[in-house]
Amino acid sequence: MVLESEARSGPGLRLYRELAEWYPLLTPVADYGEEAAFYRRLYETHCRRRPRTLLDLGSGGGHNAAHLKATLQCTLVDLEPAMLALSGRLNPECEHVRGDMRSIRLGRLFDCVLLHDAVSYLISREDLVKAIACAYAHTAPGGVALFQPDFITETFTPGTDTGGSDADGRALRYLEWRWDPVPADNTYLTEMVYLLRHDDGGVEVVHDRHVMGLFSRAVWLASIADAGFQPLVVPFHHSSNCDAGHEIFLGLRPDAAGVEGIAFSAAVHNV
Ligand SMILES: C[S@@+](CC[C@H](N)C(=O)[O-])C[C@H]1O[C@@H](n2cnc3c(N)ncnc32)[C@H](O)[C@@H]1O
Repeated sequence: MVLESEARSGPGLRLYRELAEWYPLLTPVADYGEEAAFYRRLYETHCRRRPRTLLDLGSGGGHNAAHLKATLQCTLVDLEPAMLALSGRLNPECEHVRGDMRSIRLGRLFDCVLLHDAVSYLISREDLVKAIACAYAHTAPGGVALFQPDFITETFTPGTDTGGSDADGRALRYLEWRWDPVPADNTYLTEMVYLLRHDDGGVEVVHDRHVMGLFSRAVWLASIADAGFQPLVVPFHHSSNCDAGHEIFLGLRPDAAGVEGIAFSAAVHNV
């Protein structure tokens, strides 16, 4: 089966296909603990029911889920079989489903829905609307969908980052270079260069171009509202002060009493 995004994504995204086994060295699972705790507090603050279940659309290596699963029963959806296999080894107790965040329908509702950095791969307004509709279709009344694009139009800055780690005799170092060749459109480019050191000491260099989406805050908020959610934007707090993802969008799905009442544990957590 050829999924729509496979047909149009071309040679990019090697990271999620033949290089998937290197993904944990690029972005180690331990680094996700602080942000996962932040998302958990947001869900606990804004859900109007005790959050018990989570659907992660674009779950990648399952690195957020590895932390969130302590209190949430997680269902993980991704387009790429190699990423699902990776996450399956890290999170064997979680359900894994191959699917597209723009179109999948599981026929079930979840207290929490997460579209983390994978949402940055949506490059047209039409796809953004489809993915938000998909989130709405899976969010229980009184539940919360959380969207965290790497950048929005107002926060995008060209720049570079470096990093990487060592594990099991292998090592990866990367250069990430973000630039926007056509500022008037809804995309920017992330050029990734990976230096992959194998366990025999051999080093290979790979260039991987990621085409990323860029939408304004107004487009995000309007699209979330149009889907049926009450939209909310909250600042992202993280000790690294990284320049990506300063803002998180929430979609609060009304229940019979609306969304104005006391949310679950709102009095306990000050987010
Ligand atoms: C950076 S990774 C996500 C990492 C994830 N946040 C984690 O906690 O490990 C991005 C993922 O988005 C997935 N992806 C991109 N477009 C998608 C789509 N339309 N539907 C589902 N998954 C998609 C890719 O296959 C990739 O695994």
